[in-house]
Amino acid sequence: MNAPSPLTLAQRVVRKEDYIPCAEAFVDTRLHNRDGKLNYCIIGPGVAENNKQHVHIREPHGFNVGGVSLPTGKYNSLHSHLTAEVFLVMRGDWRFFWGHDGTDGEVILHPGDVISIPTGCFRAFESVGSDDNFMISWLGEDDPGCVTWENAVIEGAAEFGFYLTHDSRLIDTRNGDALPSDDKLMKSLTEAELLQFNRVSPGEMVARVYNVAKHDGYTGLFADESKPGGRKIFHPIIGETFAELRTVKSHILNPHSFSLAAVCAEEGNGFHPHIINQKQVLTIETGRWFVSVEHDGETLHQELTAEDTMSIPANAIRSYKNISNNLGTLHIATSGDVAANLTWV
Ligand SMILES: [Fe+2]
Repeated sequence: MNAPSPLTLAQRVVRKEDYIPCAEAFVDTRLHNRDGKLNYCIIGPGVAENNKQHVHIREPHGFNVGGVSLPTGKYNSLHSHLTAEVFLVMRGDWRFFWGHDGTDGEVILHPGDVISIPTGCFRAFESVGSDDNFMISWLGEDDPGCVTWENAVIEGAAEFGFYLTHDSRLIDTRNGDALPSDDKLMKSLTEAELLQFNRVSPGEMVARVYNVAKHDGYTGLFADESKPGGRKIFHPIIGETFAELRTVKSHILNPHSFSLAAVCAEEGNGFHPHIINQKQVLTIETGRWFVSVEHDGETLHQELTAEDTMSIPANAIRSYKNISNNLGTLHIATSGDVAANLTWV
């Protein structure tokens, strides 16, 4: 098979209004109070179990970017991940709860909150605010592996014709899929297996929540801040970011396979043109941002607004400026656990 042709810069922009959901992305979606969940794969297939899930950008980035929304009163079942799972609340209010039976702790999150959930622990969430809700999610690694569901999901889904194979492929016998032999299907966890999963205290989880509105952030981390249009506040949230001044530590330090930072800028300010030697993905939280990218003889100037996503190739020249008259916030995920190099042009 031929390798896919490289994406143009325009193909690297995925706008909020173009996001394509899947209403049955996971094995739990036919269970009581789990219906209505919409999952999105913006960059990479993530952990989606249904091969009908649309993936906007398949090129590997070292991490995956997705999204989710849920009717209020419905919830996403308890499950565990092998790699990092990070959410940014864009709209609505969300209750996260965790532990084997979901009673180890809970936290209510609001727009602008970022949460990084430790690997290997059962977590679930529900919308507790408006039905107008949405979260962006980042998953660690190109292949984040399989989700492990609580036993009630695996046992309950069969009644609705849903089964999972060992490699997390969704089988839908109501729609004509043949049921594989029992030895190929995901089984319930034993008591001993359940004990292998991590328990996280409420204090530990709350320490992994960050909101730019509740932290000061940093100025003076980048050389362009002394130039007109370069004023910004930088929030190193996860891992080794691309901040030029490396003495500043992120709020969350354990390796995720990517770093996450937020940039807040007033009208007319942002980043001057620079090169980063790793792939980056922009997620707009607020404001309107004028983004320019040059790569391999191609140039793209693009306006991006809340919830839009853009992938930027490694070694491309990039600049960002908030052009709205309110403070704007932009989240930047950068591939790798080692700090990326920044070069001004
Ligand atoms: Fe998850």
